[in-house]
Amino acid sequence: MIKQRWGIIGLGKIANKFATALKDFSEAQLLAVASRDSSRSEMFAYKHRADRYYGAYEDLAKDPEVDVVYIATPHITHAELSKLCLENGKHVLCEKPFAMNECEARDVYELAKEKSLFIMEALWTRFLPTYKKVRELVDTNSMGKIRSISSDFGFKSKFDPSSRLFDPKLGGGSILDVGIYPIFYAVTLLGEPKNIKAIAGFGVTNVDESCAMIFEYDNGVLAQLFCSIISNNTQETSIHGDESRLLINHPSHGLTTLNISQDWKPKGLVKVKYSGNGFNYQIEEVMSCLGQGLTESKLWSAEDSLALHRTIDRVRKAAGITYPQDSLT
Ligand SMILES: NC(=O)c1ccc[n+]([C@@H]2O[C@H](COP(=O)([O-])OP(=O)(O)OC[C@H]3O[C@@H](n4cnc5c(N)ncnc54)[C@H](OP(=O)(O)O)[C@@H]3O)[C@@H](O)[C@H]2O)c1
Repeated sequence: MIKQRWGIIGLGKIANKFATALKDFSEAQLLAVASRDSSRSEMFAYKHRADRYYGAYEDLAKDPEVDVVYIATPHITHAELSKLCLENGKHVLCEKPFAMNECEARDVYELAKEKSLFIMEALWTRFLPTYKKVRELVDTNSMGKIRSISSDFGFKSKFDPSSRLFDPKLGGGSILDVGIYPIFYAVTLLGEPKNIKAIAGFGVTNVDESCAMIFEYDNGVLAQLFCSIISNNTQETSIHGDESRLLINHPSHGLTTLNISQDWKPKGLVKVKYSGNGFNYQIEEVMSCLGQGLTESKLWSAEDSLALHRTIDRVRKAAGITYPQDSLT
C-alpha cells in the first residue's frame, strides 16, 4: 500500500487520540500538524513524532507533501477548513458534525466531488465493532421487526461559557456534540423519520444543554432520543424488536458484549472483538479507501452523512435551536 502522509489541524483533545491511533498504521505517516499557536504545534509534533509543525492552519493546507488532512477543530470551522484543504488538493477526514447544517455539508461534498478528492465525516461510531455487530443483528432481523429504539447520550461537562460546548458562537450545545449519536442510531437503523417532535433545555449561554426527541416512522414505529452536556446519563441504546430486545450499554465504543433479552429474561450475549482506542477503525477505513482510489467510503458516504445532517436540521427546527452565524431559523 502507498504511504499516506497525514496532517492534523486543531490540536485539542480528540486530535491527541487520533494521533495516538495513527501510530499503529505502518502505511501512514504523521507528516505535519497545525495549531493557531506554533509552540502548541511544536509540542504536539514532538509528542506524536510529526516531522513538521505549523502555527497557521493554512500553512499545513498548502504543504505540497501532505496527502490527507484530519480536521479536529470546533464544529463551526469544519466546513470552511474542509474547503481550504480541498482547494489545496488534500483528501479530508473531518470531525463530526461535518458542518453546521445540511446546506453547508452539501457544499463541501460537492467541492470534493468536483476536485475528485476523498472526503469523509469522522463519525467514528459507524466503524466501531459494536455498531457493525448491531447493524448485522438488525439487518438479519435477529430481534424480529423493530418496534422502537431508545437512545441516550449525555455527560456532565464543566461549565465554561467560553468553551466550544457552551459558546453558541462556536456551535455549542448538546445536539451537534452528542445528540448526533442517538440521531445516528435512529437514522441508520430506521431511516429518516416522517415526523419529529423535540424540546430543548436552554442554559444561561443560550445553548441547548439538553434535548429530548421523538421520531415517528411508518406503522407506529418510534424512536425516543435524548442528549445532554449537563448530566451523566445512562448512555445506553436499546433496540426493541417484536421478538427480543438488544441493549447496548455504556460505553458503547469499548463494549465487547451486547445483551439480548426476551420477555425480560437474558437470551444471549453477543461477543464483539475490540482493539486500540477506537479511532483505529475509522483510520483503517480511510486508508483502505485511499488505497483503492475511492473518493468516498461505502460505509459512511456523503449521502449517509447528508441524511444525518438533514435530520439534525429538522430536530433543530422543532426545538428552536439556532446559532448566531447560522441561517437555519
Ligand atoms: N469523534 C469523537 O468521539 C469526538 C469526540 C470529541 C470531539 N469530537 C469533535 O472534534 C472536534 C474537536 O473536539 P475536541 O474535544 O478535540 O475540542 P478541543 O479539545 O476544544 O480542541 C479543539 C481545537 O480546535 C482548535 N480551535 C480552532 N478554533 C478554535 C476556537 N475558536 N476556539 C477553540 N478552539 C479552536 C484548537 O486547536 P489549536 O489551538 O491547536 O489551533 C483546539 O484545541 C469537535 O467538533 C467535536 O465534535 C469528536
